[in-house]
Amino acid sequence: MEKLVIEGGLPLKGTVEISGSKNSALPILAATLLTEDECVIRNVPRLRDTLTMIKLLKSLGKTVDFTDNVLKVSQKGKLNHVADYSLVSTMRGSFCVLGPLVAKLKKAKVSLPGGCVIGVRPVDLHLKGLKALGTKMDIDGGYIHARAAQLKGRHVYLGGVFGSSVLATANVMMAAVLAQGETVIDSAACEPEIEDLTDFLIGMGAKIKGKGGPRLVITGVKKLKGIKHSVIPDRIEAGTYIILAAATRSNLSIKGADLTHLAALTDKLEEAGVKVFEENKILKVKTKKTIKPVSVTTYPYPGFPTDLQAQFMAMMALCQGVSVITDKVYPDRFIHIAELNRMGANIRREGVNAIVQGVKTLRGAPVMASDLRASAALVIAGVAAKGKTEIHRIYHLERGYENLDAKLSAIGAKVWREKE
Ligand code: UD1
Repeated sequence: MEKLVIEGGLPLKGTVEISGSKNSALPILAATLLTEDECVIRNVPRLRDTLTMIKLLKSLGKTVDFTDNVLKVSQKGKLNHVADYSLVSTMRGSFCVLGPLVAKLKKAKVSLPGGCVIGVRPVDLHLKGLKALGTKMDIDGGYIHARAAQLKGRHVYLGGVFGSSVLATANVMMAAVLAQGETVIDSAACEPEIEDLTDFLIGMGAKIKGKGGPRLVITGVKKLKGIKHSVIPDRIEAGTYIILAAATRSNLSIKGADLTHLAALTDKLEEAGVKVFEENKILKVKTKKTIKPVSVTTYPYPGFPTDLQAQFMAMMALCQGVSVITDKVYPDRFIHIAELNRMGANIRREGVNAIVQGVKTLRGAPVMASDLRASAALVIAGVAAKGKTEIHRIYHLERGYENLDAKLSAIGAKVWREKE
């Protein structure tokens, strides 16, 4: 195992190039199960999570070639219907093979993913939607056993206690594209990653109306074909580097990001006194010496993303004043508070809120990565802090940030890996 060592406190400058979106790539890779034809997918980030999805696709009978961020998925024989625990338990994104497998094979055995440190993370909405389309489901031995004689289009409401669900929308949509008749999904997730999946499915020959909105109308077709597609830029990776610029009071250029996907973040940064604007297709982040405290509540898209909450908190830890951070998508996603406090931050949890009292400086410390985005917050804190930070369990970062050390070094951060 390796740890990431950061010598913090250096000013950053230069350009960061953003990779393809992990959360787009995962359901899109699952969607390749819907056709026997070859699919060519560009701009796929080489990450632990995409490699896990490739392993899963191979275990289900697909042939996969992954060269230079281009993924070619083809199929020679028949698909297998079992998604194993070892692959689904390490990454919840794997659960979105359930919809395509049921649609294509009329049966699936998919391991239940279980919870993780950011919360319980149930899958009731996935199951509700697939049941509505005519799938019979039992749980046995930690697996969902699903069977369907013929999927039939229906009206499905997918709003849950915490709003819409990204991967439940993906699962139900991928089943509905091959169902008989019309499916209407209400309270569908509106995340750009779902829009990207919709484009992918339409390119395969699916009939979907309402792209990007909360009501999707899907008319089932008999067969889908292969497609060439390029994955959208990773808005969470882009947001992480933008927040890094602000936290270190640096001016950075961000190449290859889509500003329209980042409105909730840039609006909050504007309030804090940080400017983000586009110039010749490159995003420029301009930061002042002092940053005003800003309170943030996360919501499903187009609200402030829960996947940027921890990083924003790291930045707020270095503001002059008090901010309140609330997560309405994962109300318990606060495990990073204790680690940030080990670096000198002054953050306390009060019920569903994190109260952040800004401090002048953070100081490097050994810290423990607990999940992907919490780890990104520790990287931001480590680069902004004075002295040396050691981040243990960096495999979390490898799940979601392509070439993290190289990208950080290129903008002037002093970062390296060491054996534990
Ligand atoms: C996706 C993202 C993840 C992001 C999350 C919310 C991928 C691979 N992952 O995860 O990075 O943090 O969206 O933007 O795309 N819920 C239920 N029942 C369900 C499903 C979800 O109650 O059946 C709840 C969840 O516990 C959570 C909320 O709904 O409170 C949103 O979760 P959801 O959108 O489903 O997250 P994922 O799709 O798993």
